[in-house]
Amino acid sequence: MIGESSIWTEKYRPKTFKEVKGQKDVVSKVEAFVKQGNMPHLLFAGPAGIGKTTLSLVIARQMYGDEWRGNFLELNASDERGIDVVRNKVKDFARTRAIGDVPFKIIYLDECDALTKEAQQALRRTMENYTQTCRFILSCNYSSKIIDPIQSRCTVFRFKPLAREEIAHIIEKIAKDEGLHVDAKAEEALFLVSNGDVRRVENLLQACAALEKKITEDVVYSIASYAKPKEVAQLLEHAKQGDFPGAKKILLTVMLEYGLSGTDIIKQLQAACWQLSGVDDRKKLELVKSCGEAEFRMVEGADEYLQLEALLASFTLTLQR
Ligand SMILES: Nc1ncnc2c1ncn2[C@@H]1O[C@H](COP(=O)(O)OP(=O)(O)OP(=O)(O)O)[C@@H](O)[C@H]1O
Ligand SMILES: [Mg+2]
Repeated sequence: MIGESSIWTEKYRPKTFKEVKGQKDVVSKVEAFVKQGNMPHLLFAGPAGIGKTTLSLVIARQMYGDEWRGNFLELNASDERGIDVVRNKVKDFARTRAIGDVPFKIIYLDECDALTKEAQQALRRTMENYTQTCRFILSCNYSSKIIDPIQSRCTVFRFKPLAREEIAHIIEKIAKDEGLHVDAKAEEALFLVSNGDVRRVENLLQACAALEKKITEDVVYSIASYAKPKEVAQLLEHAKQGDFPGAKKILLTVMLEYGLSGTDIIKQLQAACWQLSGVDDRKKLELVKSCGEAEFRMVEGADEYLQLEALLASFTLTLQR
């Protein structure tokens, strides 16, 4: 039984295909494999927190029922001990036959894009050696980082960040079960901040719920250390009016109040540039370009305040022209 102290990402992890939100195409194809009781090697690609591990666990539960734990091995490819450990664990696991009717076991290998090309070659040979007794589900953020010979041995599925309504469904379900009140603006804030990453939504909700049962957008933004879109818009508005000190004041407040890093702010500023009204597209392009340059300099180690101030100066100049 799951206790009160459990973490919500586990508590609300789907156990059936139906409970997996979004990823419609992927789910229906994978479900068909399970119905046949056979499947090829799979490659799951896509950003964090959107159901790659979850769907693999669902496959295992549906294929093997109560015996799933004995037939499913989860490994992390980027484990610092490297591909040799993976190879040995696979060898041990693959030595015994699957329990039950299904003729193979499943090995889930997370973060395959962290493997070097050489390690991927070794993985490819391992996959070939154990095809009789095992199916591999490989997971990665970027399929382009996976060598062709592996890609061609797998059926590739691309996972997408969840859409607004899908995230809303998940929030509403949790709110009901946990006795929370999440208003529409807070729901919108959770979507904005998470970018469709369900893990992030669930973790934020849990953190907010520890503070209050009534969750508002203010609570969400402060927990997520994310500037309110309204404040970012105001900042740009000041720059547009040529009021550099005004823009700078908002910037400082936002950074200190929410503890945002320079690169966090730049991402929000860049997104907000597109929303500016009454500014022609060419100028917007210039703004976006300066965001990119400032971000690069920050990543390379330049002072964040200095770069942000320079960025605001260039915004003010561009918008005043
Ligand atoms: N499509 C989804 N439908 C419902 N819940 C989801 C979905 N995707 C993720 N979740 C929730 O988010 C949690 C994390 O998801 P999961 O472990 O599947 O992410 P992942 O795609 O494997 O990410 P990573 O690349 O970081 O490993 C799950 O435990 C579950 O609670
Ligand atoms: Mg995962």
